[in-house]
Amino acid sequence: MILRIDRWQTELPPPSTPDPAGAATVQELMGGKFGEMSTLMNYTFQSFNYRFRQGTRPFYDLIANIAAEEYGHIELVAATINTMLTGVDIRDVESEAYKHHYNFGGKGALPADSHGTPWTGDYVHSSGDLVEDLTHNYFLETGARSGKLRVYEMCDHPAARALTGYLLVRGGVHQVAYARALEKLTGADMSKLFPSPRIPTAKIPECQPHIEAGEHKKLYRFSPEDYREVIAVFNGPHPETGEDLEVVDHAPEGFPPQDLPPETDVFAPDYAPEEIAEIAQKLRKAAGLPDKVTGIVANDDDGLVSKVKDKLS
Ligand SMILES: [Fe+2]
Repeated sequence: MILRIDRWQTELPPPSTPDPAGAATVQELMGGKFGEMSTLMNYTFQSFNYRFRQGTRPFYDLIANIAAEEYGHIELVAATINTMLTGVDIRDVESEAYKHHYNFGGKGALPADSHGTPWTGDYVHSSGDLVEDLTHNYFLETGARSGKLRVYEMCDHPAARALTGYLLVRGGVHQVAYARALEKLTGADMSKLFPSPRIPTAKIPECQPHIEAGEHKKLYRFSPEDYREVIAVFNGPHPETGEDLEVVDHAPEGFPPQDLPPETDVFAPDYAPEEIAEIAQKLRKAAGLPDKVTGIVANDDDGLVSKVKDKLS
């Protein structure tokens, strides 16, 4: 089962200038063949289908644990798309190629690629052969890094840059993890393949703070008790920097999400968000909840509801 923590794995900036074309481009990192839905679902199905766990536990723990991190990556991609769509006026998007964001998605991210083609289970490779699956996963992370770099180059929106800077570093960790698993299982010297593709993350400004924080060499354990045996695989020197790889015995602390404002021209959350807010307040009071909302967001602003009222009146 999944224990959900209401935090983002990295900090994303608040909405700035809307970027509908950029949001369409970032969709490739969600539902493209090498997007985060693919990494999430590949590792999830491989872990669901994994047999002989007790005999081969470190490899099972590695795949299952990385799957959990990928859930947070699809959340970050969605948050980035939603940030870039905030403030778009749907009367101005007639010339935009990607209309599903408005006429179907209500200015929300979609499980689709940059052309609007839905993500498909055809992208999942769960063969039942551990070496085959690990090789596939190494290749998947390699392609995912290429895709992130291209989106980085195509989009200069601050949210897209923050997202790709973070995911390039974390995807690199997963690539190292699968390489190390293959080395330990087969004796192949995977370190000779690095960096693959040739992305100098240390030179990318949005990667630098994450590298300084050591995010390029840490594998987090996304469970209070389980997946302890990842340490048997994720160890030794980082193939690019030579630093020791490190397993962190908990999930990252994370960052409060940005609470994005309602977009009234597509009725999200409805044409009268202040009415829903009033109903929610009554229900909260009846349930004995405190006056102050319990959830945590980056832009905690008690005046949000009144601002919505102002905007509508
Ligand atoms: Fe990922």
